[in-house]
Amino acid sequence: MENDTSALKDAPGDSSEDGQNADLENDFTSSKLGTKDYWDEAYKRELQTFHDIGDVGEIWFGEESMDRVTRWIETQNLSDDISILDIGTGNGMFLMELAKNGFRNLTGIDYSPASVELARNVLREEGLTDINIEEMDFLNPPSSLSSFDMCIDKGTFDAISLSPEDGQQAKTRYVASLKQILRPQGLFIITSCNWTKEQLLQIFSPGFELVKELPTPRFQFGGVTGNSVTALVFRFQA
Ligand SMILES: C[S@@+](CC[C@H](N)C(=O)[O-])C[C@H]1O[C@@H](n2cnc3c(N)ncnc32)[C@H](O)[C@@H]1O
Repeated sequence: MENDTSALKDAPGDSSEDGQNADLENDFTSSKLGTKDYWDEAYKRELQTFHDIGDVGEIWFGEESMDRVTRWIETQNLSDDISILDIGTGNGMFLMELAKNGFRNLTGIDYSPASVELARNVLREEGLTDINIEEMDFLNPPSSLSSFDMCIDKGTFDAISLSPEDGQQAKTRYVASLKQILRPQGLFIITSCNWTKEQLLQIFSPGFELVKELPTPRFQFGGVTGNSVTALVFRFQA
């Protein structure tokens, strides 16, 4: 099943009471999509569906969102041995795509135990048993999680920045975790539906230099042209 971007953009009626959305970097309301309970429940249902009928569940932003990142990675002629971390791996489908493209040093983390179980099941079904899937809160990573050559994120920074507790603090902690986990000059590839290119440049600066904006579908509304999804490649300047 594929997903459009609307669910992560807003969840009607889910706004936080104080509506803390006024500052430049935080121009939308918080939502239940920023809570662990939400994702636990979602992946429990998807796990059950996977057991019942073999459906792997949501592919956030559609298959094309994985393909465009994989295609770009392939143009870089990187070793198939580079270590890649999928932040908030969900059902693990992005890791499966990378494994099918020859990458062998793959790790996925997610703070939802049901997601971890789903991803392990989905990957095992394809015989991909050497992909490491760990239950972990990316905002509190153990010090042992470090030195990755590449981190990928599809929809997780979006979810984290919807945290009803303190979206601004969550974003700051996300950037700090990323700096701990990536090796110097490592790559960070983010696909987001909540943040524009300009906002992402601001959030991940200083520390991350833009390498490439990956082309994504454009839409026009009221004479204004924009992107429904933004996909950027950054390099970590330690
Ligand atoms: C929109 S889903 C995207 C899932 C997957 N990346 C994909 O593209 O299908 C957001 C994911 O982020 C995970 N997540 C949210 N906050 C997290 C955190 N602090 N640490 C680890 N995972 C988190 C959720 O459990 C969920 O799997």
